[in-house]
Amino acid sequence: MQIIDGKATATQIKAEIKSEVEAIVAVGGRAPHLAAVLVGHDGGSETYVRNKVLACEACGFQSTLLTFEDTITEEELLSVVDQLNNDFNIDGFIVQLPLPKHIDEQKVTEAIRPDKDVDGFHPVNVGRMSIGLPAFISATPLGILTLLQRYNIETRGKKVVIIGRSNIVGKPMASLMMQKQFGDSTVMVLHSHSHNLAQECRQADILIAAIGSPAFVTADMVKPGAVVIDVGTTRVPDATRASGFRLQGDVDFEQVAPLCSAITPVPGGVGPMTICMLMLNTLQAYKNTVESSSQS
Ligand code: GUN
Repeated sequence: MQIIDGKATATQIKAEIKSEVEAIVAVGGRAPHLAAVLVGHDGGSETYVRNKVLACEACGFQSTLLTFEDTITEEELLSVVDQLNNDFNIDGFIVQLPLPKHIDEQKVTEAIRPDKDVDGFHPVNVGRMSIGLPAFISATPLGILTLLQRYNIETRGKKVVIIGRSNIVGKPMASLMMQKQFGDSTVMVLHSHSHNLAQECRQADILIAAIGSPAFVTADMVKPGAVVIDVGTTRVPDATRASGFRLQGDVDFEQVAPLCSAITPVPGGVGPMTICMLMLNTLQAYKNTVESSSQS
C-alpha cells in the first residue's frame, strides 16, 4: 500500500512555480499577484486564507489580503469585487466561502471576472471546463487529478466512483474524470439518495470520497487493491491536541488503508494540493494577462 503524499507533492510543485517566477523576475518581469477577500471570523476560513497567503510567499507571488467584518453589505462586497476586477495589478482573486447568510454567494461568484476567477467557480469557467475548453479548473479536483498523474495511477478506462455531488468537488471531479483529455475513466457519482451505496463503492478502481462525513468510508465499501482519495477535512473534537480538535477525513483510514493499493491521508493528502493548484491557476492568470497585454 502506497501513501499518496500530497504535502510533499505540493511542496515540489510550489518550488517549481517559484523557480519559474524567479526566472521571470530575473529578466525584469513583475511577479504574479493574488488577492484574497475574507469576510468575518470563521476559524476554518481564516486558516485557509492564511495558508493561501503563505503559499503565495513560497511561490514568490505578491499577495493582498482584504478583510471585512461580517456586517459588510452585499452591495459593498460587490463593489470590492468590481474594484478587483478592474485592478490591473491583480492577476486573480478569490472571495473565501462561506459568506454570511445575508450575502448571496452565487451573485458574488458571478460578479468575478472569469479571467480573474482563479477558484474556477464562475459558471463560465465551469462550463468551459465541462466541454474541454481552456478554463480555470477548481483547485480540489485539479489537485486530485495532479496527484493521480504524478503517482502514475492509470485512470483510462478505470471505474471511478465519486461520493458527493457538490459544485466545488463532486461535479467537477466527475466531469474531469470522464473527459478523454483528463481521466478518460468510467464515472459514477453517488449521493445521499443513492441505493446500494456500499455495493456501488466496492466496484470502484478509484474511490473518491467528498461528502464531509467523518470516517464514512469503511472497509466493506472498498475493493481490495483500489485507490482511495479522501477529500474530507472535518474538524472533530480531540482533547489530546492543543487546538482541541483534529482533522478527520471521509475515510476510516485505519480500516481502509490496508486494503488499498494507494490512499491519501488526512491531513497531508488532498488538502495541501488544493492551495497549490490555486497558485498554479494564479500563475496561469498572470501569463494570460501578460500575453494579452503584449498583443494589445
Ligand atoms: N471555501 C472552501 N474551499 C474554498 C475554496 O477553494 N475557495 C474559496 N473561495 N472558498 C472556499
